[in-house]
Amino acid sequence: MYIVGLEGTAHTLGIGILDEKGTILANLMKTYKPKEGIHPREAANHHAKEFVPTLEEAISKAGIVRSDIGLVAFSQGPGLGPCLRTVATAARALALSLNVPLVGVNHCIAHIEVGRLTTDCDDPVLLYASGGNTQIIAFTRGKYRVFGETLDIGIGNMLDKFGRENGIPFPAGPVIEKKAKKSNSLIDLPYSVKGMDVSFSGILTAALNSKAPMNDLCFSLQETTFAMLTEVTERALAHTGKKEVLLGGGVVRNKRLREMVEVMTEERGAKAYAPPGPLCVDNGAMIGWTGFVMHKAGSETPVEKSGVIQNYRTDEVDITWRK
Ligand code: ATP
Ligand code: FE2
Repeated sequence: MYIVGLEGTAHTLGIGILDEKGTILANLMKTYKPKEGIHPREAANHHAKEFVPTLEEAISKAGIVRSDIGLVAFSQGPGLGPCLRTVATAARALALSLNVPLVGVNHCIAHIEVGRLTTDCDDPVLLYASGGNTQIIAFTRGKYRVFGETLDIGIGNMLDKFGRENGIPFPAGPVIEKKAKKSNSLIDLPYSVKGMDVSFSGILTAALNSKAPMNDLCFSLQETTFAMLTEVTERALAHTGKKEVLLGGGVVRNKRLREMVEVMTEERGAKAYAPPGPLCVDNGAMIGWTGFVMHKAGSETPVEKSGVIQNYRTDEVDITWRK
């Protein structure tokens, strides 16, 4: 039996195909790249247009035939309404036409489960830093609980907005990382940790209003916001007594962020893990794998309950597949 995982919470349409052991046979991503900020409707149209050809490509890359597919998993939320609805509609149609079960997956949880599949970590604190999301998540008392999160925008959105105002094309994160390497000069930006939560909009405003050289601003943006993320991750480790940090989300492709988290975990006698790059970002394989472990534990999403949940909370899901 093969599993198809469909991701469509934001910019990226992801279609992954796996077997029951978790071997990833295909994992295609088609990303809508806006010139301005994301228009959810346009991103959804992009996913609609790309869906059928991408599915065909994934099936052929995986070397399977349609009748080998035994399960369809899709990202039920959280995310942008039009994108979620488009991919959920495609998921329902695919499951119905193949006459196989459908499983709705919480996107944030999929970032954890794919890390548990592809790295040696077992019970990590997840630092999930992407465009739209910034959360610190860990498993306690039968749920994945959010220990800290952004109070306003995701860290990636902050970097992308800073980039957009400064003529850096989307996604700005990798360009900011390059520019940051050319500086060593720390500009004072508001370090914004409140309890276990973080916020980025004040930092963004301060950086946009600063007249400092661009490389110094990029360096300081990274140093300040990554130190904030590292601090709350460390506190979640201390609070939960866990010994592993898992990195997930597009922003953790950043080497400086990884380095800061690695130094922190080493100092605490803990360890940091990250899945391979394509599995850090939004992708279909992580949805497929999570849908599979859920289904094995008895979960299924009947079509009448498969409506999307735009603000699907991580701790709403009963984690039936873990002890
Ligand atoms: P989500 O629905 O999980 O929020 P997303 O589409 O916003 O998804 P991802 O695909 O996980 O997010 O990541 C995209 C983000 O990662 C963008 O904001 C991009 O700027 C950022 N990013 C990518 N590479 C780097 C990097 N090297 N350094 C910093 N940020 C990066
Ligand atoms: Fe994501």
